[in-house]
Amino acid sequence: MIGDIRNIVILTGAGVSAESGLATFRGPDGLWEGHRVEDVCTSEALARDVELVHRFYDERRAKLIEVTPNAAHEALAALDRAWGGELLIVTQNVDDLHERAGAKRLIHMHGELKSALCAACGKAVAWPGPLPPASVCDGCSRPSLRPDIVFFGEMPYEMERIDAALRDADLFVSIGTSGAVYPAAGFVQTARHVGARTLELNLDPSAGSFYFEESRMGPASKLVPDLVQELLG
Ligand code: OAD
Repeated sequence: MIGDIRNIVILTGAGVSAESGLATFRGPDGLWEGHRVEDVCTSEALARDVELVHRFYDERRAKLIEVTPNAAHEALAALDRAWGGELLIVTQNVDDLHERAGAKRLIHMHGELKSALCAACGKAVAWPGPLPPASVCDGCSRPSLRPDIVFFGEMPYEMERIDAALRDADLFVSIGTSGAVYPAAGFVQTARHVGARTLELNLDPSAGSFYFEESRMGPASKLVPDLVQELLG
């Protein structure tokens, strides 16, 4: 599997943060911290119950203080530091554990908990604490700040950069994601199309497992350090 590889794209999902103590989106009860994803992750939900949606993300943001990166985040950060070729870590996660472990070549395609987005002018601003509804944007002075989370139906961030990296990739690795949400779930098909090797690391087979040349099943805290060791020789 590994050999003759220069350019790597790594996609991560909630499974990479599960062992740090953050709930995945589609747990056994199908709920994300007691809520249906559709009730807290759509612009309709925000319009219907702004207090609920802001409170939900305030709680998720506050929880970040209680958790730390695990061995999978640490190993990916080590790979980022050491890898001489192109590398892009694309995370669907809105937590900050990859960057706290030290990863630099990182894109948060679904937004970030520690950021607020102005629904009026589109300016994003670092936001470490609670975000009351109607908080004022310092760019346009309107009371339009919302959580900087890509809701269902909205375009994920940096798709052009991600697509370019996928088209140059020799290896695409998907870690801890159920493959239920597009466009991320389709990255493996782009990677295959350009001839990249494709590898899935997950606790259970995902919805798109059959697209991957190789699937390794187990906890990310074990599989990811092993893979990084393999890649760095
Ligand atoms: P999911 O909750 O859908 O899937 C998590 C995956 O991680 C599952 O396939 C689990 O088997 C796997 N998993 C759990 N624990 C693991 C472990 N210790 N090691 C390895 N794998 C493990 O989460 P995502 O696929 O990330 O979007 O969800 C995708 C998107 O759906 C999220 O980014 C979110 C949500 O709607 C937004 O917030 C915009």
